[in-house]
Amino acid sequence: MADPKILYLSRAEVERANLSMKEIIGLLEKAFLEKGHGNVEMPPKPGIHTMPDAFIHAMPAYIPSMRSAGIKWVSGYPENFKRGLPYISGLMILNDVETGVPYAIMDCAWITAMRTGAASALSAKYLARPDSETVGILACGMQGRTNLEALACLFPIKRVYAYDILPEVQEKFVADMMAWFDFEVISVKEPKQAVVESDLVVTSGPILKHPSPAIEKDWLRPGAYGSAVDFDSYWTAEALAQMDRISTDDHNQFQYYKSVGYFQQTPDPYADLGELVAGLKPGRQDEKERTLAINLGLALDDMAVVPTIYRCAKEQGLGTWLTL
Ligand SMILES: NC(=O)c1ccc[n+]([C@@H]2O[C@H](COP(=O)([O-])OP(=O)(O)OC[C@H]3O[C@@H](n4cnc5c(N)ncnc54)[C@H](O)[C@@H]3O)[C@@H](O)[C@H]2O)c1
Repeated sequence: MADPKILYLSRAEVERANLSMKEIIGLLEKAFLEKGHGNVEMPPKPGIHTMPDAFIHAMPAYIPSMRSAGIKWVSGYPENFKRGLPYISGLMILNDVETGVPYAIMDCAWITAMRTGAASALSAKYLARPDSETVGILACGMQGRTNLEALACLFPIKRVYAYDILPEVQEKFVADMMAWFDFEVISVKEPKQAVVESDLVVTSGPILKHPSPAIEKDWLRPGAYGSAVDFDSYWTAEALAQMDRISTDDHNQFQYYKSVGYFQQTPDPYADLGELVAGLKPGRQDEKERTLAINLGLALDDMAVVPTIYRCAKEQGLGTWLTL
C-alpha cells in the first residue's frame, strides 16, 4: 500500500492559494447554516496556558456537508509583539472523513485572521443596518485589517476612524487602508472618537481576563453595531447593558468562557450566529437598536475554509508533499 501523503502549506503558500474575503464569508455562512440546524460536531476547545493572558488551544470540528474534519492547534501570546513575533500562531491539520488519515497541514495565521473578520461581517449582515457607512476600528493590528476588509465586502463604507495605542501602527494602518480602499480613513487620538461617529465598531485589542474597558454607555449610537473581537475587554458593563441585542457564535463556548472568569458583567447572548443564519432567531428589528456580536472564534470557522484552501493550493501546485 502506498504511504499516505500530506500536503504542507506555509503561511505564504496559504495566502497564495488566494481565497477572497467574499468567498470566505460565503463559506462561513454555509457552515453556520449547518450549525444552526445542528449538523456540526464541535466539542469545546481545551487549552493550556504557559503565560498570563496567553493560550494554546486545540480546536477540532467536523462539518459533514462540507466533508471537512480537522483541528487547529493555535496559540495567542499578547506579549509577543515585544519580540517581533505575531500574537497568533499555529497549525491546522485536515483529516480524511472516511479513513481519518491526515492529508494536509498548514499554517493557521492567515486563515484565523481572515475567518475572524468574515465572522464579524456575517454577524453584521444580520445585526447591522444595511446602509451602515462609517466604521470605527479600535486596535489596528491584523484583526483590525481583516475585519475592515470583511465589512467592506458587505457594506457601503465611506469613512473609517482608526485608533491604536501605538501611533506608528495606527499611521501605517491609515496609509495602507487608504491605498487599498476608496474610502476615507481618519486617525483619531482617543478611543471615543472612533466609536461615537461610527455605524460599525470593531474592537480588536488584546483579550484580557481583567480588562480596564474604555467604551462607556452612550458612546455607541442608536442603530450602530459592534463586533467585540477581543471579548469584553473594550466594553464597560454599562455599555454592554445598553445593548438591545448581543449575539455570540456558540452559546456553549460563551458559557465556558464565563465559567473561567470572562464576561462576568456581560448579559447572556440571545442568539448564536448559527441561529441567525438559519433564521431560528431574528436579527436586527429596527433602525434604532444597538447590537453587538461577541464571536469567540470557533473551530467551525476554520474548518469551513481550510478544505477550499487545500483544493486551490493543490490545483496551483503549491506546497510540499510529505510522507506520513
Ligand atoms: N474572537 C476571535 O475569533 C479572535 C480570533 C483571532 C484573534 N482574536 C483576538 O483579536 C485580538 C487582536 O489580534 P491580532 O491578531 O489583530 O493581534 P495584533 O498583535 O496584530 O494586533 C493587536 C493590536 O492591538 C493594539 N492594542 C493593544 N492594546 C490596545 C488598546 N488598548 N487600544 C487599542 N489598540 C491596542 C496593538 O498595538 C496592536 O496593534 C487578540 O486579542 C486576539 O486574541 C480573536
